[in-house]
Amino acid sequence: MKTINLPEDSALRNRSFLFGTATSSFQIEGAADSRLQSIWDTFCEQEGKIADSSNGLTACEHVARFKEDVDLLEELGVDAYRFSISWPRVMQQNGELNPQGVKFYIDLLDELARRGIKAFATLYHWDLPQYLEDNGGWLNRDTAYAYQHYVACIAGALGPRVHAYATFNEPFCSAYLGYEIGVHAPGKTGRKQGRTAAHHILLAHGLGMQTLREHAPHAQHGIVLNFTPCYPVSESPADRLASLYADEYINQWYMQPVMEGKYPHVIEKLVPEERPDIHPGDMETICQPLDFLGVNFYTRLTYSAPQEEGELFSEHEHLPPKTAIGWEIYPQAFYDLLTSLHARYNLPPIYITENGAAMPDKLENGEIADNDRIDYYEAHLLALSKAIDAGVNVSGYFAWSLMDNFEWAEGYEMRFGLIYVDFETQERLFKHSAYAYKSLLSQRK
Ligand code: FCB
Repeated sequence: MKTINLPEDSALRNRSFLFGTATSSFQIEGAADSRLQSIWDTFCEQEGKIADSSNGLTACEHVARFKEDVDLLEELGVDAYRFSISWPRVMQQNGELNPQGVKFYIDLLDELARRGIKAFATLYHWDLPQYLEDNGGWLNRDTAYAYQHYVACIAGALGPRVHAYATFNEPFCSAYLGYEIGVHAPGKTGRKQGRTAAHHILLAHGLGMQTLREHAPHAQHGIVLNFTPCYPVSESPADRLASLYADEYINQWYMQPVMEGKYPHVIEKLVPEERPDIHPGDMETICQPLDFLGVNFYTRLTYSAPQEEGELFSEHEHLPPKTAIGWEIYPQAFYDLLTSLHARYNLPPIYITENGAAMPDKLENGEIADNDRIDYYEAHLLALSKAIDAGVNVSGYFAWSLMDNFEWAEGYEMRFGLIYVDFETQERLFKHSAYAYKSLLSQRK
């Protein structure tokens, strides 16, 4: 069986470097009847939004099978597990906790603790309660305060069980995909909408950080951002400028406010009506000291000068080689990203909170020989290892994902798991990549 090979002296072969796997609530939990409706339930009900017309009602039945899933984590030998808390599962519409939902996470956390696995909880991985969306969702500033109330309640209820909290997973996806181009829930469109949602999510992050310091002082607190490094298609000044604008518009739009309390220069390129409404003090609230920065990396994109008046850049199709979801495999961008963030910002310790690949897995004779996924992991871990050698402070790495799950607008057809899930029977099966990951982790010194 194929293995993941890293140099003998790689920092990743040291036991002090933390390894884990990641999931999120809507993508795995199922048990939709024991929580409130979320914007993703509503989105899935609309025709044409999800590639295979599926939904998250059953998913991986993780709520019923969480003990078995923690067995799998133990079997993999991970140090940590990153999962998300479903806001519509733990809160009721009247603003009180839902004891049944809270009990599920306490049981999960206690089970992780029994196996010595550290819990990394994300407080928002896209499943906004629908009743809040009915009042405007992230377009409504009040949602940031509703989020803060939810965070205070749940952090208090979970007590010291959580090792690290992330306020948000990938604000870019919630704001841009959800409210600007409408390919994710709630499916709204418009630049003003996208920028407004982003601002309110960033505000909620800042409020959430303050609340976490108070209600969960024992834990580490941070945020998870996704980065798609931007490269110009040529060295011409126009293409380079376009690629810079793209980076500011899709990546730094979230990073710079969080780290430095300001939006990137590209905001000045937007007409005033498209800019978010920033209240006095907002940028200070957003810019809170972080214990860690979560970085999600999958791919890069290339850009050239805009074709149309009013555009900032023109984005190109992904180049080959690509994964099953159509994203270019380009590990050099992972190295470039980490070293450039390190050069530009005064960073807290980084966790790579997601990295992985959807591949066209084939189940043959009871096995999945996903050598392509093993190659992806090896190349990216190598790039990470080199970035650490170049001075970037990275404390851990989470593979996306523990198991195949509901891949948002792609439904169940895109499989990102180390562990294969048969969605008919809910059987779980280690892919070869899971064995490779396990063996890498067990050989650390
Ligand atoms: C990220 C999401 C995660 C998963 C991966 C493939 O953008 O955070 O839930 O869908 O992509």
